[in-house]
Amino acid sequence: MSKKLATITGVQGYVPEHVLTNKDLEKMVDTNDEWIQSRTGIKERRILKGEGLAASDMGVEMVKGLLAKTNTKPEEIEMLICATITGDMIFPDTANTICDKAGIKNAFGYDINAACSGFLYALTTGAKFVETGTYKKVIVIGLDFMSSILDYTDRATCIIFGDGGGAVLLEPREDGTGVQDQVLKADGSGREFLHMKAGGSLRPPSAETVANNEHYVYQEGRTVFKHAVKSMASTVQDLMKRNSLTNDDIDWLIPHQANIRIIKSVANACDFPMEKVVVNIEKYGNTTAGTLPLCLWDWEPRLKKGDKLILTAFGGGFTWGSIYLVWGYDTPS
Ligand code: UT7
Repeated sequence: MSKKLATITGVQGYVPEHVLTNKDLEKMVDTNDEWIQSRTGIKERRILKGEGLAASDMGVEMVKGLLAKTNTKPEEIEMLICATITGDMIFPDTANTICDKAGIKNAFGYDINAACSGFLYALTTGAKFVETGTYKKVIVIGLDFMSSILDYTDRATCIIFGDGGGAVLLEPREDGTGVQDQVLKADGSGREFLHMKAGGSLRPPSAETVANNEHYVYQEGRTVFKHAVKSMASTVQDLMKRNSLTNDDIDWLIPHQANIRIIKSVANACDFPMEKVVVNIEKYGNTTAGTLPLCLWDWEPRLKKGDKLILTAFGGGFTWGSIYLVWGYDTPS
């Protein structure tokens, strides 16, 4: 018997119904479908619309679906971690709001703010609680409601992002499946290139911050692009080296979906053929903490017990890293 590891035993994604296409964006900002597709790989993204809806409402849909498909009762969940930068409020956290709305009464939770790397940070954290035997059923969510913090007059940012994400259930297994290892990194000096200027204690909300459009995503795209390629590639390579893995050993590379050119550059730098690289950016755009669980959800029917996966991401902070895991189940057809 292998040592106890935290295995993903179910995954459930959620994207809102409303589709925002590149053609729709052509009517809103000075852009065009050809530019967006060739520079980013995105064709459309989903947008959460509806009075009073928030990030937690997407989280509740993910959790309800996850509990149903894994035959788990809400009261069995002991912990819920939500990676997001677009929580319902600055405080309280969104994890406990999701628990309340989903009828999860015996769990505690908290949010993790690591932008596009949030799911990697949250999955690692949740896995440690399971590996150590502290908890047996932990839900880890990565989601973002990016349209709530986008300036739809700024063509450099509004075309990239979308809303959605996914949730996974972590349970202990001793059959060799589960989260094997991770390389997680951060460099706070990167905060100047990707952030929201106001709304926090540095620049509390005021009429001036609103007038200056400071409550939206600010990004210096080219700088972020270069760091993203280099950082994701290096943590994938570090992780493979220290686990004595060759490219042939890995069944799927699952990169953060920020830009198809970034994805291809990372695959190229790590010598992975694109047939082994998970890509769904064309449907959802960049959902920040939501991209990795959305990829797992989309690919779930193709994943087999024992498949070796590497997840990698880069985002605001800067934060970045990679996780190596062995998939835990075959999806019934
Ligand atoms: O997920 C978190 C981490 N984020 C990322 O990884 C994103 C990283 N960055 C990127 O993906 C890319 O930098 C962007 C997609 C944001 C931008 O693509 P780019 O190829 O780096 O474009 P650029 O910023 O260098 O701009 C090139 C040109 C500029 O025009 P000029 O100055 O050359 O005349 C822009 O004004 O493209 C122009 N441009 C656009 N044109 C049409 C910028 N946005 C648009 C647009 N439509 N939407």
